[in-house]
Amino acid sequence: MLTATSTIEAGRGQNNPLMPMGFDCGAGLTKLCLQLNQKQILLRQPSKVLELKSPLLEELNSPEGGHFYYHSGDRTDLINRQFLTGELVTWKSPITHTKLSDDPALKAEYSLHMVLGALATLPHRQEWKLFLVISTHSRKLFNDRLKQLITGNHIVSFGGHSSPETKVDITVGTVAPEGAGSYSYAKRLNLIEPSAHVMAFDFGTSTVIPQVFDPGGKLIYHQPLEIGGCIDLLEAIACDVELLQYLGTGKAANIELIRQGIEGGEFNYGSRQFNFRPIYARLVKTWLAHRLRLAFKSTQEWLDAAGSVVAWGGGTQMPGIARMLATQKVATVPSGCWANAIGLQTIASALLARRS
Ligand SMILES: Nc1ncnc2c1ncn2[C@@H]1O[C@H](COP(=O)(O)OP(=O)(O)OP(=O)(O)O)[C@@H](O)[C@H]1O
Ligand SMILES: [Mg+2]
Repeated sequence: MLTATSTIEAGRGQNNPLMPMGFDCGAGLTKLCLQLNQKQILLRQPSKVLELKSPLLEELNSPEGGHFYYHSGDRTDLINRQFLTGELVTWKSPITHTKLSDDPALKAEYSLHMVLGALATLPHRQEWKLFLVISTHSRKLFNDRLKQLITGNHIVSFGGHSSPETKVDITVGTVAPEGAGSYSYAKRLNLIEPSAHVMAFDFGTSTVIPQVFDPGGKLIYHQPLEIGGCIDLLEAIACDVELLQYLGTGKAANIELIRQGIEGGEFNYGSRQFNFRPIYARLVKTWLAHRLRLAFKSTQEWLDAAGSVVAWGGGTQMPGIARMLATQKVATVPSGCWANAIGLQTIASALLARRS
């Protein structure tokens, strides 16, 4: 999604030395936030990658995915290779592709691909000089690898080999713990009481993560629940007998179409005459109740001290979730899917200001 830009705006500001950017590489959705000429740009795409072994028959375009050809740069392993990201992957190769949700290590391996794929959706520039703040579930495991794979100069073409070249120069400001961006965003919106403990539940695609921040905002607890995130609900819908009977193929329904049906708020299954709202309504309450119970259980020792209990992550934007959370006195951060990326961008701006 591109909230505000135009060719002219993106063309200006080329002299800007470094552009602060927040990068939330989720298991299901990659979110990027940057400012172009005082306008906030939000880019998201499904966290999927496909290497193209032969040129595309026709160039593909989507606001939620990109195509890049890597000419030269610090990633010598990528030279003369080309990739699709996000929605373009699901269009070109719906089944055989790399999903970043398959293995946590893939987020580090493909972070550069996801940034380049996102930039491909913006109007052409000769040069991007990015100052990134990235979040990761495990800094201990991925900090060095992430920095090593993404930092440096990359000469690419957005589109095929012969499209105009763009130089992408990436500096990593810091790798922040998961949730630091969302915390900063919620604080800026006055949704938390930062002088007390803050409990937060992140409803993501693969994971639901209860987190606790100390008075002052340092992360003191972060442990994904044993059970999965929104993907479990989407899979339960995909395997529901009513939908299986309708499809009549014996195979589970397409998860992407279910995700789109939920996000669109209409619950239509692709272009088929099937509405899965009643199935969603039946399954969502138990899905949330289990996760909320486990999240409260794992953070119980901080509950009395906590000044605020909040929820963020894209799952909070699914229909009915915020209302159900409110009944349990959990406040939902607006635009929960974007909270982390927006907050990381604020952190990047602050870090950059301190350097200059
Ligand atoms: N506007 C929206 N309306 C409804 N659902 C949404 C919206 N935005 C995101 N979602 C849903 O929220 C879910 C989780 O999204 P989110 O981006 O938080 O996950 P993630 O960061 O990729 O996963 P993880 O945190 O597990 O790595 C997805 O299933 C997505 O479809
Ligand atoms: Mg996430």
